[in-house]
Order: sequence, then structure tokens, then C-alpha cells
Amino acid sequence: MTAATVPAPVRNPVDHTSPVVTVRNLRVDYGTHTVLDGVDLDLHAGETVALLGASGSGKSTLMKSLTGFAPVAGGSVRVVGHDVTALRNREQRRLRAEVGQVFQQFNLIPRLSVLTNVLAGGLHSAGPINLIGGFTGEQRTLAMHYLDRVGIAHKAKDQARSLSGGQQQRVAIARALMQQPRIVLADEPVASLDPKLADSVLELLRGIAAEYRIPVLVSLHVLPVALRHSDRIVGLRQGRMLISAPTSGLDAEALLPLYEDEEHGRDDALA
Ligand SMILES: Nc1ncnc2c1ncn2[C@@H]1O[C@H](COP(=O)(O)OP(=O)(O)OP(=O)(O)O)[C@@H](O)[C@H]1O
Ligand SMILES: [Mg+2]
Repeated sequence: MTAATVPAPVRNPVDHTSPVVTVRNLRVDYGTHTVLDGVDLDLHAGETVALLGASGSGKSTLMKSLTGFAPVAGGSVRVVGHDVTALRNREQRRLRAEVGQVFQQFNLIPRLSVLTNVLAGGLHSAGPINLIGGFTGEQRTLAMHYLDRVGIAHKAKDQARSLSGGQQQRVAIARALMQQPRIVLADEPVASLDPKLADSVLELLRGIAAEYRIPVLVSLHVLPVALRHSDRIVGLRQGRMLISAPTSGLDAEALLPLYEDEEHGRDDALA
């Protein structure tokens, strides 16, 4: 295959006017328990937004709301042009194909090679033909491109389980990029990594937001880490949005009210 036949990785056009995500007055109920209430959120192309809050404050639920996985009881959720609360099955699949997700436990298939794990990220849009016929040369070239982007192309043939935690999270990020996502949601992506690896993975995510012109929403537990690696901070307390501000005007002290309800929350957050 020549370089000319390789599909270019998506770089979404710069759009400074309309947010990729618009959440207004969101309420989510689990049974009689209201876990998010009155939440507003805008996410713009190219920015990295840290989502903070004590355990149980609703961070994961807010992320799930963006892909239609949370029981929305009120308000509106728009993500890359979709009205998430009104999606039918097929539209919901399309939306989820446009949202790259990264998780604390990486969620790789341990026995498969790194390359195959990344290729699996493209299956959202590939359809059944590719499952039967295997992956195309174009797909492999694109997967290698993303592995190179996250710095571990040399591990392509290794089993995913043989990699370190930091390397596995890089594979997971390459897998998300293989979807050519319009947004990346990362729920506690560095909670299982030591601080040095955490820094490098978060720098990678921030670089991806800037390079591909997509928003990256990343939930985090440690305040100094969030302050180092985000453009904006959104903070939840007991399901309500307490803080939404540019990171440059914040320090750890300004964020401590997020953890007032927790006995050990402040210490953990400052660790
Ligand atoms: N599927 C569910 N069914 C019932 N309650 C749920 C469900 N998912 C979450 N909750 C409740 O919603 C609240 C918010 O949970 P969520 O997982 O969003 O918090 P979080 O901020 O991500 O916490 P953590 O930092 O521990 O991951 C909690 O009280 C939780 O018990
Ligand atoms: Mg969570």
C-alpha cells in the first residue's frame, strides 16, 4: 500500500463558536435518588476539562449521561449534534462510535496483541464484513499510526497483558483514537498508575485534545494533578455543579469545598 491510500486521521475543523457538548439543567435519578441536579456543561473543541468531585458526587454518571447510559430525568444533553435523551437504537450506536472512551482499568483484551486491541476500536464503524474478512491494510496502517502517536508502536505485536499499566493505558488511548472520535471521555484514567506515569498519560490526552481539535473530559481525584493537566475545571458536589472555571485562575484551596462532605476527601484530594 502506498502512503497516499492511507486515510488521514481526522482533525476536526476548528469551531470556536458552538460547543461539542451542551448540557443544560441536567437531572439524573436512580429510582428515588437524585444523583445529578441542575448541571450545566459546555465542552469545546481542543480543550481538556478536568472533572472533579468526591466519591459519589456524580462524575461517572455525568459521563454516562453524555452517551445515553444514565437515566436522565430532566434537562437537555447535546453531544456532537445529537439530542442524547431522544436517541433511537441506531442513532445511539452512531453517537457511541463518535465518543472515544478511556477507563481506569484500561479494558483491553489481555490475550490479544496490542495492534489487534487498537484495531478493535475501529469496529464501531467497520460493520460485519470486516469481522469476517479480517482487518484491511488501511486499518492496520491507521492503527500503527495511532500506536506511534501514543509512543508504543514498538509493542504492536506483544500481548496486551505483557505491557505495564502506563503502556496499557496508551494502547487504550490509541484504541479510542481508532474510532476517530469527536470527543474523548476518560473516567479516572490514571487512578491505577503511579504519579509519573499519570503525568505522562494526562499530557498525552491533553496533546490529543489540542492536536485533533476535540474536547477531552477527564475525571480525576488528585487536585494538583488536575491543576497541572487541564484547561478548565468542573467540580461536582453531591450531584450539583459547584465550580466551572478556567484552571489558570484556580488553586487547590479554591477546590477544597468540593470535598467538604468527606472525612478523608480533602487529604486524598491533596495527596
Ligand atoms: N446504576 C446505579 N444504580 C443506582 N445508583 C447509582 C448507579 N450508578 C451510580 N449510582 C449512584 O449515583 C451516585 C453517583 O455515582 P457516580 O458513580 O456517578 O459517582 P462518582 O463521582 O463517579 O464516584 P467515584 O469517584 O467513586 O467514581 C452515587 O450515590 C451512586 O451510588
Ligand atoms: Mg466514578
